[in-house]
Amino acid sequence: MRTAMGWQADGPAAPLRRVSLERRDLRPDDIAVRVDYCGVCHTDLRSVRAHPGEGNAPIVPGHEFTGVVTEVGPEVTRFTVGDQVAVGNIVDSCGVCAMCWAGQENFCHEFPTLTYGGTDRRDGSTTLGGYSREYVVRDQFAYLLPAGLDPAATAPLLCAGITVWEPLHALGVGPGTRVAVAGLGGLGHLAVKLAVALGADVTVISRSADKSDDARRLGAHDLIVSTDPGQMAAARDRFDVVIDTISAPHDLGPYLGLVAMDGTLSLVGHIGSVTVESMDLLIGRKKLSSAGSGGRPATAAMLDFCAKHGVTADIELLPSARVNEALDRLHRNDVRYRFVLDLSDLS
Ligand SMILES: NC(=O)c1ccc[n+]([C@@H]2O[C@H](COP(=O)([O-])OP(=O)(O)OC[C@H]3O[C@@H](n4cnc5c(N)ncnc54)[C@H](OP(=O)(O)O)[C@@H]3O)[C@@H](O)[C@H]2O)c1
Ligand SMILES: [Zn+2]
Ligand SMILES: [Zn+2]
Repeated sequence: MRTAMGWQADGPAAPLRRVSLERRDLRPDDIAVRVDYCGVCHTDLRSVRAHPGEGNAPIVPGHEFTGVVTEVGPEVTRFTVGDQVAVGNIVDSCGVCAMCWAGQENFCHEFPTLTYGGTDRRDGSTTLGGYSREYVVRDQFAYLLPAGLDPAATAPLLCAGITVWEPLHALGVGPGTRVAVAGLGGLGHLAVKLAVALGADVTVISRSADKSDDARRLGAHDLIVSTDPGQMAAARDRFDVVIDTISAPHDLGPYLGLVAMDGTLSLVGHIGSVTVESMDLLIGRKKLSSAGSGGRPATAAMLDFCAKHGVTADIELLPSARVNEALDRLHRNDVRYRFVLDLSDLS
């Protein structure tokens, strides 16, 4: 075993504390990554706050990070020491099921190994995430950082970015597609940027008009205030694709109302059970879908696309010692649009 410093949650109310944590020694197909930057995802907040507390396995969050390869196992061919790499929210999968064969490791029939809070497929240990100065990962689940992309602003692409990229791609979003993005946060602002770069005509749906200027700066043409029934009614049936990134449970009815005939609402934000009034689907033959994370080919394609189009996240970079402040502010919705932790203070 080797050790690395990291930020650990011991329970739902306890602040994350700086700890020395154990990383496995490299297996033949592993690389060791010095983590430089790690995004703060709303899922991290949910995981920490849902932590059962004392006596349970501690959580070290973080599943979108970039850094530098410091060591490679003997079977590694894709990376050498010094390469800049990115790692997202899955770090392993069975590799042999139909989903893995199709390059959709995120849907692995055995469930992919999550970057934190997952169970390592080989030794059964609980994975510890990227709020840490080092991560040891199978080389197959790391991606070369394309030249020209800022490593700090790229980190959020590995969860927030790929999570919205897959549905945009799968739903064929391209020039002229009318796309609405509900919830302008970490996922939402990247959905806007990516859809705009794909050539779509993009509208933001937000709870107030506060983010109107930001929405336009990000490339959206319009912002609809979801709490204004008049504005929502006026936008009825207007969008081919609605990407719903809202982090709280909510009624899907008003958002399905915005979907055009044969269009799709892709629910990628709050994960959990939803109630749908089937008439909201029946009228207009509408589709309800979801997505999460991405397969290896799509993740690599997204990174290439982002490099080509200059797409990265709008970030607020904080020293990792301010991780608790970042989580509190994320909880208060006080972020534009992604916190990224600079882990260099853990050296
Ligand atoms: N499918 C996946 O694999 C996957 C991956 C990553 C994250 N997630 C989930 O996606 C969600 C968004 O994550 P994020 O990191 O983008 O979060 P975030 O930065 O906090 O953004 C969430 C946005 O949702 C809107 N919102 C928040 N509370 C709301 C409420 N009560 N009613 C209506 N709108 C509300 C806000 O937008 P406005 O201020 O514009 O209204 C907010 O900016 C989280 O639930 C996260 O767990 C899923
Ligand atoms: Zn995430
Ligand atoms: Zn599989």
